[in-house]
Amino acid sequence: MAIVVTNIKSLIQTETKPVLFRAGQSMKNLPKIDNAYLIVKGNKIYDYGKMENYSEQLLQSLDEQIERIDATGKMVIPSFCDSHTHIVYAGSREIEYVDKIKGLSYEEIARRGGGILNSAKRLHDASEEELFEAAIERLNEMISFGTGAVEIKSGYGLNTEDELKMLRVIRQLKQHSPLTIKANFLGAHAVPSEYKERPSEYVDLIINEMIPVIASEELADYIDVFCDKGFFTVEDTERILMQGMKYGLRPKIHANELDYSGGIQVGVKYNALSVDHLEYTGDAEIEALLGSETMPTLLPGAAFFLGMVYAPARKMIDAGLPVAMASDYNPGSSPSGNMQLILSMGCIKYKMLPEEALNAVTLNSAYAMGINDILGTITKGKLANFYITKPIPTLEFMPYAFGNNKIDQVFIQGKKMNI
Ligand code: NIG
Ligand code: FE
Repeated sequence: MAIVVTNIKSLIQTETKPVLFRAGQSMKNLPKIDNAYLIVKGNKIYDYGKMENYSEQLLQSLDEQIERIDATGKMVIPSFCDSHTHIVYAGSREIEYVDKIKGLSYEEIARRGGGILNSAKRLHDASEEELFEAAIERLNEMISFGTGAVEIKSGYGLNTEDELKMLRVIRQLKQHSPLTIKANFLGAHAVPSEYKERPSEYVDLIINEMIPVIASEELADYIDVFCDKGFFTVEDTERILMQGMKYGLRPKIHANELDYSGGIQVGVKYNALSVDHLEYTGDAEIEALLGSETMPTLLPGAAFFLGMVYAPARKMIDAGLPVAMASDYNPGSSPSGNMQLILSMGCIKYKMLPEEALNAVTLNSAYAMGINDILGTITKGKLANFYITKPIPTLEFMPYAFGNNKIDQVFIQGKKMNI
């Protein structure tokens, strides 16, 4: 099967010379071709260019059934890569949401046995099938909003058996969803209540029991720790990351959401692929990140939902850093996987230009989940994950018209999705 899209108003994020990510001033660069065509062969991007160079001869070598799409007035944009989510969970937590409205803080709710521990209890009672069904539904909704790749964390198990259950569900999702999915082991998401008085013993359990079995079953691509005030210390984090790396798991960690926790520095020290949240980022943290291979990843949905401070994105980019953005889709702090909304928040709350924000949710977030070689840009040979917008006047309209679905059609691996 081949797909030929012609008369595209703008084909966005085209890439001829591969770059790993865009940083600092370069984040303003968003290559595009106006009045373009795009040809998909099988599950990959086969060719693209200006309409004036298009001819039916380009299709001759395809020798297959061809679906033709006229995209007059519409743009084609590579799918969002959502590099940080927790979408395997049972139930929802709108009661806590109301508690928050009444004035309780995230940490107060966590101390009362709410928060992550509440989701852990519910996950314990749910079957793999139930978790799978709920997660697939979330993934399908994310597809309809334009997402084409998702990183999914464990971390609502908090004991060996339930962490394995979560990771097995993620493995099932990898097998059944057309999306590109990466699994991240987050045993160190919260200290379970039975370990409250002896948290280092829970760290021991992660190190001695969970990591070896997860690695032997090849259930995770990455390892995560919630390195923050009231959760895991820098010392805990170092112990866990060292063991994870021994078993071939590269870190991608939660850092500096609640305080200047040292999480960013420890992430960089262990060559994390990304450090995520980063509401508390100062000069020392920026200094640590500069020149590293670690992608600073911002999650504006969580700051918005919790009414907390926003990460200093402008300062970070102006200092020369790259920035990625992801949804953090989870039941406690960001119950939405709508990356179009994240794009808008990037512009509205972080003061990113539309081009910078689009780089943050495509190329840079692809890097943050280790898939920039196959996704994140419109490149010959990359997977054909993209969406066609409704007729829109400008690219700026994408973040501007916040909360509206600007997407007309979605393609994942060259297949049109039912949305
Ligand atoms: O990324 N910060 C830590 N973990 C999640 C919250 C998960 C929850 O509250 O269930 C987050 O925001
Ligand atoms: Fe998270």
